[in-house]
Amino acid sequence: MDQENPNPPSEQPSKRSTRCCFCLYRVLWIILVTIIILVSLIILVIYIIITPRSFKFHVNQAKLTQFNFTNNNTTLNYNLVLNFTAQNPNKKLKIYYDVVEANAFYKGYNFSATDMNKPLRTLQETKSVDYRMSAVFIGQHVMMLDRDEVDEFQEDYKNGIFGIDIKIYFSIRFRLGNFIFGDTKVQAKCDLKVPLSSNNSGKMVDPFDPTKCVVDF
Ligand SMILES: *[C@@H]1O[C@H](CO)[C@@H](O)[C@H](O)[C@H]1NC(C)=O
Ligand SMILES: *[C@@H]1O[C@H](CO)[C@@H](O)[C@H](O)[C@H]1NC(C)=O
Ligand SMILES: *[C@@H]1O[C@H](CO)[C@@H](O)[C@H](O)[C@H]1NC(C)=O
Ligand SMILES: *[C@@H]1O[C@H](CO)[C@@H](O)[C@H](O)[C@H]1NC(C)=O
Ligand SMILES: *[C@@H]1O[C@H](CO)[C@@H](O)[C@H](O)[C@H]1NC(C)=O
Ligand SMILES: *[C@@H]1O[C@H](CO)[C@@H](O)[C@H](O)[C@H]1NC(C)=O
Repeated sequence: MDQENPNPPSEQPSKRSTRCCFCLYRVLWIILVTIIILVSLIILVIYIIITPRSFKFHVNQAKLTQFNFTNNNTTLNYNLVLNFTAQNPNKKLKIYYDVVEANAFYKGYNFSATDMNKPLRTLQETKSVDYRMSAVFIGQHVMMLDRDEVDEFQEDYKNGIFGIDIKIYFSIRFRLGNFIFGDTKVQAKCDLKVPLSSNNSGKMVDPFDPTKCVVDF
C-alpha cells in the first residue's frame, strides 16, 4: 500500500481536477435545468391566473318611444334609450373602458351612432358588481327602404315590436396592481327585440327581455 502510493500522486491531481470539472459541469447543468423548469412553471401559473378573460355584456332595459317613417317612407324618426351592464370575470385584472361607441341597425341599415354614457371612473374592479352604461339614440335618419322592407316595417309597427341590432366598439385596457397593459379593441353585438312603449296600436306588447350580447374578444 505504502509502496504503491509514491507513483500515482504525479497523475492523480490532473485526473481529480478533470473529474471535478465534470462534476461541476453536471451540478451547474442540473441547477440550470431546474431553474429553467421552475421559471417556466412560475410563468405558466402566472399566465393562467392573469390571462385576460373577456367581460360579459347585457342590455337590461330598453325604452323605445318613437320609431316611425315620415317623408314618403324615407325618413326614420327614432328615440331609443338602452341600459347596459358589464361584468368583469377576471380574478386579478381590472378593466378600463376607455372608449365605448355604439351603432344601431334596423334591417341592416346603420341608422344611428353614439358615444356610450359611462361613469367618469372608467375602471371596473375584479369580480365586482355590475358596471353600468347607457346609450341614447335620438334623431332622424334618411334611408331608402325598398317596398318589401316598408311592408315589413308596417308589420313590425302593427305588432309594436322592432328587431334592432346594436354593435358596440370598445377600447379597453387591463390593470394588474399598478401595471396597466393590453390596449385591446373589442366588439359586442346585441340583437334586440324592442317593444315600442308609446303603444300607438293600442295593442298589449310584451315588455323588453334583458338580452345578452355576443362579445368578440
Ligand atoms: C337606465 O338607468 C338609469 C339609472 O341608471 C335610469 O334612470 C333610466 O331610467 C334607465 N333607462 C331605462 C330605459 O330603463
Ligand atoms: C311618429 O311617432 C311619433 C311619436 O310616437 C308620433 O307623434 C307621430 O305622429 C308619428 N308619425 C307618424 C307619421 O306616424
Ligand atoms: C313617394 O315615393 C315614390 C317612390 O318611392 C314616388 O313615386 C312618389 O312620387 C313619392 N311621393 C312624394 C309625394 O314624394
Ligand atoms: C309608406 O308605406 C306604406 C306601406 O307601403 C304605405 O301604406 C304608405 O302610404 C306610404 N307612405 C307614403 C307617404 O308614401
Ligand atoms: C354607422 O354610421 C356611423 C355614422 O353615422 C359611422 O360612424 C359608423 O362607422 C357606421 N358603422 C358601420 C358599422 O358602418
Ligand atoms: C298598450 O295599450 C293597451 C291598451 O291601451 C294597454 O292595456 C297596455 O298596457 C299597453 N301596453 C304597453 C306596453 O304600454
